[in-house]
Amino acid sequence: MLETLRDKRMMFVGDSLNRGQFVSMVCLIHRIIPDDRKSMITNGSLTVFTAKDYNATIEFYWAPFLLESNSDDAIVHRVSDRLVRKGSINKHGNHWKGVDIMVLNTYLWWMTGLRFNILQGTFADKDKDVVVMRTEDAYRMAMKSMLRWVKKNMDPNKTRVFFTSMSPTHEKAIEWGGDKKGNCYNQTDMIDDGNYWGSDCRKNVMSVIGEVFRKSRYPITLLNITQMSSYRKDAHTSIYKKQWSPLTPEQLADPVSYADCTHWCLPGLQDTWNELLFAKLFYP
Ligand SMILES: *[C@@H]1O[C@H](CO)[C@@H](O)[C@H](O)[C@H]1NC(C)=O
Ligand SMILES: *[C@@H]1O[C@H](CO)[C@@H](O)[C@H](O)[C@H]1NC(C)=O
Ligand SMILES: *[C@@H]1O[C@H](CO)[C@@H](O)[C@H](O)[C@H]1NC(C)=O
Ligand SMILES: *[C@@H]1O[C@H](CO)[C@@H](O)[C@H](O)[C@H]1NC(C)=O
Ligand SMILES: *[C@@H]1O[C@H](CO)[C@@H](O)[C@H](O)[C@H]1NC(C)=O
Repeated sequence: MLETLRDKRMMFVGDSLNRGQFVSMVCLIHRIIPDDRKSMITNGSLTVFTAKDYNATIEFYWAPFLLESNSDDAIVHRVSDRLVRKGSINKHGNHWKGVDIMVLNTYLWWMTGLRFNILQGTFADKDKDVVVMRTEDAYRMAMKSMLRWVKKNMDPNKTRVFFTSMSPTHEKAIEWGGDKKGNCYNQTDMIDDGNYWGSDCRKNVMSVIGEVFRKSRYPITLLNITQMSSYRKDAHTSIYKKQWSPLTPEQLADPVSYADCTHWCLPGLQDTWNELLFAKLFYP
């Protein structure tokens, strides 16, 4: 992988799940590099890991919707009324130019309900012109913007573009025949029903992805990790993650209430996503 990355930039762009895949990639690679031959620096939305002897970087750029939104601050992004600005991909895209391998994702942040608020005009406007769209239509609009941007700004002979499909969550144990009140907490084995598919991975959004990519003239490689990850109710960070504020006695008494059933432990499942990425990079 390092030889492939020599004199190149690889960039992951998207939300915290893509950040997890970025961290997995860095973890897989960095152990063979001596301490003084590597660095990791974060500046705002961009984190850059450098392998000095290879003149190679692996980067992560925070853009949970790919388009400009009111959740773009890499640290303070928990806003309650999410708003995405139509046609605004250049704001982030300007930071992606010249990259050799791009790995994009976007999904979870759109999933606030059946409708989504889209801003026409700009965030600076006093009277904001907001339209409400069906979530799939808003998502399709973003995917098309992303593809148009890639086609306009990337050279298919130079840049490989990947897109990672939605990452499943395991919030409702009842969906796999578990406890009514349960989630991924205290789950220690996989779901063994080969057809299992959780309700959080909307099939109509998956259809949008398929449809948009089929029509794309720029070759995009889909990393379809959804089905294989959906079995791994046991692989989430659950209660074993850094807590940003101390847990209350009520939470401690009921670990289900604070288990994180979205993100994944590392080492773990996301290393497999990267093995898939690796395979597709070498055997397109
Ligand atoms: C290092 O890589 C960049 C591309 O990421 C390239 O433009 C530059 O020429 C490389 N430097 C050397 C010394 O090869
Ligand atoms: C961080 O990024 C900003 C804008 O992208 C740039 O102006 C600044 O010089 C960077 N800071 C460092 C320490 O690299
Ligand atoms: C990519 O390479 C092929 C074969 O070398 C060439 O025909 C084509 O014009 C190139 N495409 C671009 C966009 O440069
Ligand atoms: C975890 O699940 C097992 C059965 O799968 C159960 O016996 C045990 O009590 C559970 N532990 C906690 C702390 O909920
Ligand atoms: C991704 O894989 C799932 C399960 O195999 C399949 O149902 C879905 O259609 C695939 N998505 C695309 C866009 O090909």
